[in-house]
Amino acid sequence: MDRIRIVGGSKLNGTIPISGAKNAALPLMIAGLLSEETLILDNVPRLADVAQPQRILGNHGVDIMSAGKRPGDHEYQGQTLHISAKNIIDTTAPYELVSKMRASFWVIAPLLARMQEAKVSLPGGCAIGTRPVDLLIMALEKLGAELTIDGGYVIAKAPGGLKGAEIDFPKVTVSGTHVALMAATLAKGTTIINNAACEPEIVDVADCLNKMGARVTGAGTPRIVIEGVAKLHGARHTVLPDRIETGTYAMAVAMTGGDVQLSGARPELLQSALDVLTQAGATITVNNDGIRVSRNGAGLSPVNVSTAPFPGFPTDLQAQPMALMSCAKGSSHITETIFENRFMHVQELARFGARIHLDGETATIDGIAKLRGAPVMATDLRASVSLVIAGLAAEGETMVNRIYHLDRGFERLEEKLSACGATIERISG
Ligand code: UD1
Repeated sequence: MDRIRIVGGSKLNGTIPISGAKNAALPLMIAGLLSEETLILDNVPRLADVAQPQRILGNHGVDIMSAGKRPGDHEYQGQTLHISAKNIIDTTAPYELVSKMRASFWVIAPLLARMQEAKVSLPGGCAIGTRPVDLLIMALEKLGAELTIDGGYVIAKAPGGLKGAEIDFPKVTVSGTHVALMAATLAKGTTIINNAACEPEIVDVADCLNKMGARVTGAGTPRIVIEGVAKLHGARHTVLPDRIETGTYAMAVAMTGGDVQLSGARPELLQSALDVLTQAGATITVNNDGIRVSRNGAGLSPVNVSTAPFPGFPTDLQAQPMALMSCAKGSSHITETIFENRFMHVQELARFGARIHLDGETATIDGIAKLRGAPVMATDLRASVSLVIAGLAAEGETMVNRIYHLDRGFERLEEKLSACGATIERISG
């Protein structure tokens, strides 16, 4: 199994190109199932979590062509995928595929909307809490689908097609909003989603659906209105930049010190995180090419952070400031309100000498002068990258084991960081 070796202590200086957002690429690829014409997606990141839906779509009969580089393309530019779902040959998404990645459950929405039937395995357990799909099922039932659960599969039917309806989510859910949105595009009549997630990735998907001929308004607000249409057509869409990757590298620079340009980043996608970084003592400047982050000289100030749905502080960035605050001058508090059991990085950060105390959903971090490198284990995607950030600032050597989690969500992590002066390498085998 691959590992990452880091020798900490170097400041980061240079430019980091920001990749396309994984959490937008996934639903965008799945949306390709809604049309028999080709959906072309540009700036798709090269990640394990993007390769997996390619397998799932392939199982339904979708042809996916990954276009090569064109003259003038930068080496870091994402790939272009041509997704062609002309013939859907199978409406079943088997356990072997869905269990590898939760978001693949979302294929239930376009399959039902276009084929009036779907049989999709329940996604199963996940390292960060129970993560049920009850709200996704509720939304599809509201749209007129009949759903039964048998042998670990959700069997969904909508013989006369889906029908527009009013869907009220009792809590904000990204997955629920994606599923309701995709399904409603081909439903008869008007659908209103209340208490919809406002995440930028929802807006990106709605934009793409509108390019495909859907009639969606209000994405990015808690009330999305969808006028159903009979068919969607082909389109071309560029995946928006990854705000979690942006925030992660910004935290890394704040922690090590230095000066880095996050090229292609969009500040409005992560204002809450940029505010926290400024409070902690980093300097954030916005320019034509993206965001520049620096911290020179002064130490880190403690901050209090509580995760919340967008535009609040993202839960996917919760572990990263915990690494950062472990070297602040004073005590910080980080509260997780979205997922239960999303503090597995606490034990691993303690291996660097960090002083973190957990009380329910709040972690108190008492800053110390210096972390010490250590062998650590990656537990989930975002938690793992907090260990990399800690390793970059720690004295001595850190070995991060089980890095397949990192490969799911961070494109060319070691390359991007070593180009800015970090001593970081992948050790294969
Ligand atoms: C998505 C993101 C993930 C991010 C999360 C919150 C993708 C691929 N993943 O996950 O990176 O951390 O949003 O921003 O985009 N819930 C229910 N019932 C349901 C669905 C959700 O109770 O049917 C709960 C979840 O357990 C959780 C909360 O709602 O406590 C939010 O979940 P949701 O917003 O749906 O997260 P995901 O879409 O799974």
